[in-house]
Amino acid sequence: MKFWNKPKVKIESENLPRHIGIIMDGNGRWAKKRGLPRMAGHRYGAEALKKVALLCEEIGINTVTVYAFSTENWRRPKDEVDNLMLLLLEYLSRAQKELGDKNIILKAIGNLSPFSAEIKEKIAQTEAFTANNTGMTLNIALNYGARDEILHAIKSIVKSQVSADDIDEQTIERHLYTKDSPPLDLIIRPSGELRLSNFLLWQCAYSELWFSNVLWPDFDKKHLLGAIADFQSRNRRYGGV
Ligand code: IPE
Ligand code: IPE
Ligand code: MG
Repeated sequence: MKFWNKPKVKIESENLPRHIGIIMDGNGRWAKKRGLPRMAGHRYGAEALKKVALLCEEIGINTVTVYAFSTENWRRPKDEVDNLMLLLLEYLSRAQKELGDKNIILKAIGNLSPFSAEIKEKIAQTEAFTANNTGMTLNIALNYGARDEILHAIKSIVKSQVSADDIDEQTIERHLYTKDSPPLDLIIRPSGELRLSNFLLWQCAYSELWFSNVLWPDFDKKHLLGAIADFQSRNRRYGGV
C-alpha cells in the first residue's frame, strides 16, 4: 500500500525503517545566515525536533534516536554549553506534554553523569512520565559518543565476569545504550557534512545513510519523507547477492 502522497513523495507503509538515527546538525550556520546568535539556531532546531518526532510517530516509525549533545560538544565556549543546558531543561519540561501526551516514550541515552542534578532529575521525571506510553520511542542522545558507549559496554561486560569465549556480538549489543532499540535502519544527517561524528558507530554497520545540505532547523516533512522514500528504494544486501 502506498500512503502519504503529500507533497510529492510516496512512501510505503510496509517497508518503513524501524529505527532512524538523526544527527541534528547545522543550527549554528542556520542562525549565522540570518544574523542571529547561535542559540536562536538551537531553539529553532528544538522546534524542528518536536515536529519531526510527531511526524515519525504518526507515520509509524518504531524508534528515533536523535543526536542532541556529543561527548565532544563540551569543547564549545562555556556560554554556548551553559545555554544549551538551559534549553535542554526547558525542552524536557515541554516534551513531557507535547510529546508524552502524544503517546511517545522519551528516553535519554549517553553518559548522563556529568549533567547537573537538576537535569538528571528532569530526565528521570520525563522518562517516568512517558514510560507507560505505547507509541514511538524517542531516544535523545546526550553526552553521547559511540566510542564512549563501546568503552562503557566493554567495562560492563568485564565486570559481569563472563568468560571471553562466551562473548559474542549479542553480548556487546546487550551492553550498548541502544540495547532496547531495533536495528538501526537509517541515519539522516543534514547540514552538508559527510561524516558520522561519533554517532552510533557499532549500530550503523548496515544502516542506510542519507545526507542533505538542509540545515537542521529547516528540516521538515518533505525532507523526512524524502529520506524515507530514498531508504525504501535501496537494495540492502548485507553482504549477500
Ligand atoms: C548542532 O548544530 C547542535 C549541536 C551540536 C548541539 P551545531 O551547533 O553544530 O551547528 P553548526 O554545525 O555550527 O552549524
Ligand atoms: C554532531 O554535530 C553532534 C550533534 C549534532 C549533537 P557536530 O557539529 O558536533 O559535529 P562536527 O563537529 O561537525 O563533526
Ligand atoms: Mg555542527
